[in-house]
Amino acid sequence: MSATQEIPTTLPIGRNTPRVDGPLKVSGKAQYTSDFHFPELLYAVPIEATIANGRVIKLDTAAAAKMPGVRAIFHRENIGKIFRSVAGQGLEGICDERRPPFEDDVVRYYGQYIALAVADTFEAAKAAADAVRVTYSKDKPNVETDLKADDDPDVVATTFGMRHRLDSQRGDAEAAFAAAPVKLDQTYVTPAETHNPLELHATTAIWEGSNLTLYESSQGVVNLRSVLAQMFGLPKENVRVITKFVGSGFGSKLWPWTQCPLAAAAAKQLGKPVKLVLSRKMMFQTVGHRARTQQRVRLGATPDGKLISLQHDYVYHRSMLDAHHEDCGEATPFQYSVPNLRVTFGRARRNVGATTDMRGPGRVPGLYATESAMNELADQLKIDPVKLRILNEPNIDESLGVPFSSRHLLECFELGAEKFGWSKRTPEVRSMKRDGLILGWGMAGCSWIAARFPAEASVQLRDDGTARVACATQDIGTGTYTILAQLTSQKTGIPLDKIEAVLGDTSLPAGPLSGGSMATGSVVPAVFAAADNAIASLMMIATTTPGSPFEKRKPDDLAFEGGRLFVKADGPGKGVPFADLLSRANLRLVTGSGKSEGTFGNPKPKFSTHSFGCHFVEVTWQPEIARLRVSRVVTVMDAGRIINPLAGRNQIEGAVVMGIGMALFEHTSYDPQNGAPINSNLADYVVTVNADAPPIEVHFLDYPDKEINEVGARGIGEIGQTGIAAAITAAVHHATGVRVRELPVKIENLL
Ligand code: MOS
Repeated sequence: MSATQEIPTTLPIGRNTPRVDGPLKVSGKAQYTSDFHFPELLYAVPIEATIANGRVIKLDTAAAAKMPGVRAIFHRENIGKIFRSVAGQGLEGICDERRPPFEDDVVRYYGQYIALAVADTFEAAKAAADAVRVTYSKDKPNVETDLKADDDPDVVATTFGMRHRLDSQRGDAEAAFAAAPVKLDQTYVTPAETHNPLELHATTAIWEGSNLTLYESSQGVVNLRSVLAQMFGLPKENVRVITKFVGSGFGSKLWPWTQCPLAAAAAKQLGKPVKLVLSRKMMFQTVGHRARTQQRVRLGATPDGKLISLQHDYVYHRSMLDAHHEDCGEATPFQYSVPNLRVTFGRARRNVGATTDMRGPGRVPGLYATESAMNELADQLKIDPVKLRILNEPNIDESLGVPFSSRHLLECFELGAEKFGWSKRTPEVRSMKRDGLILGWGMAGCSWIAARFPAEASVQLRDDGTARVACATQDIGTGTYTILAQLTSQKTGIPLDKIEAVLGDTSLPAGPLSGGSMATGSVVPAVFAAADNAIASLMMIATTTPGSPFEKRKPDDLAFEGGRLFVKADGPGKGVPFADLLSRANLRLVTGSGKSEGTFGNPKPKFSTHSFGCHFVEVTWQPEIARLRVSRVVTVMDAGRIINPLAGRNQIEGAVVMGIGMALFEHTSYDPQNGAPINSNLADYVVTVNADAPPIEVHFLDYPDKEINEVGARGIGEIGQTGIAAAITAAVHHATGVRVRELPVKIENLL
């Protein structure tokens, strides 16, 4: 068993490393987007539609415009030109709500921005926004929760390009199902969910001539620059996006939202910086949400538990204009071995804001459905759910016909079962008790894609013995500053406290999105190449500077370790610190640049690259007072090499906590009368808090995946939320005898 919490090491990679930006955060010095202030800054507050379907007939701004401190009330007639954007090559120009704000008078969802008040203070802008009077013609909104697929063509355009609605197929799933001796046919429903990062979305826009600077709370500054440059008809060099700290995003900040061009347009019109910070209520309306899904899963099996057929047909809701794809079937074709398979999807238009990625998009709802079906099949067959999964473990990715780069799911099950004590489970419902509580035990498997986005980075070695590593990626709280510093330290031997990590600025070398759990894996080769190139420059200088201790040596004779250059044959004992070599040559610094290609979206991969894992969950149930709690979770992850186990465990724990919210609490409800998300605040939209969070035991296997990068590190931001809801609902069934197939589990379901 190679599972380990921390690999003993003196090198930075694999070592528990507190966040290098931690002191800035706890001392309040870290500047989040809304913390930046500028002279003559104006404040903007949007006016939101209070209908979800209809048209703006009249805007009465007269009273608002005359209020003290008000600079302007912008609307369709006076905001100026805002263009549409389109996707470019690769992950360029992505946006989940393409319609520029105020493009027409049609209202398609509740909360849609229809005007913008700008004033000298936030309070004045808010008062003015409240004073704008709107007349609508309105129709009944469609926020129907039962999802039937619209009449879409077989191939549809989505945010990420064209998709076949027959997503994956092999064998004859329908015939095999019809003939199967054991059948399961169930539909699983997941609700619309809203991201609730602590930090609200925010933009501050500043124009200098035709140059636009945006301080933005973003998970992808490079993409945001591309979209906003298009919206204002600018070359992208004219747009700079700065995101120094993000109070998390969970996907809601991956792509630009409409407040950003509004702030930019207002700043352009008024010739002054404009800040726009959303309210928590707006966060439920205009910056995306996880789509509601309705997923039918049909399994056919032999009596001894071998899968014969798997059909996964799902429908999700989307907004009237947009086409974010909720890829629920992403893992279905390879999670288990099955000869006959079919995955299809459909979409249902609703009067809701744009849907978007939310932590573990696609797979989180998708694996909830398919893992729940596996658990139900196991019960039907009276086979242990772990054993059923072992019986159906594939040897290769049966959809692509290629091997997995590194898949150790069975070892995850084995370790998880051992750590949890699974062998003590008695399968009959309500059969286990402790301290007067009924116990329920459940489990599920999980997975998440592993790949790289293209990335560039630079590493500088400086004459004061410090280094600087730079990349236009972001740190969304996951620890990217620390990872950049660790990677640089690993290559150069310079201690972490002498490394400055710089990110979150499009003026730096183009970096990856903080998304898809791919930021860490993507920056590894770029930072390593940059560090190697900086060291190569140093060697060149050392061998050519008159009077250098290495003058006339060949670079090939030299090595660099622990921040010192030395002759290989002499060993590191006689090494010279790089700062001395730079000083002798009268150089402040040397810079190395590194660049790596992406692997994400490769249509013909040699390997199927994913992380795998499992959750074992215990719930306690007190029928007398109808109290359900998740009391214990053991999670095992096969996620390649873990660069920072301390931050890595954090990611998995946070995702498990979010998964408890998904299973038991979170859902965005739309008022059938006016289409408003009615629980649009943190009192009514319940998320898991500390008191709900059980002890969570996280174990990482340690199988470096060299297909991803030379460290073997895959991503861990999202996988922890996949599968967990299915494990919890299985535990709930075990404790209560009630099978809940529509999330979240409500107490009234269990009475
Ligand atoms: Mo994640 S939903 O890719 O931020």
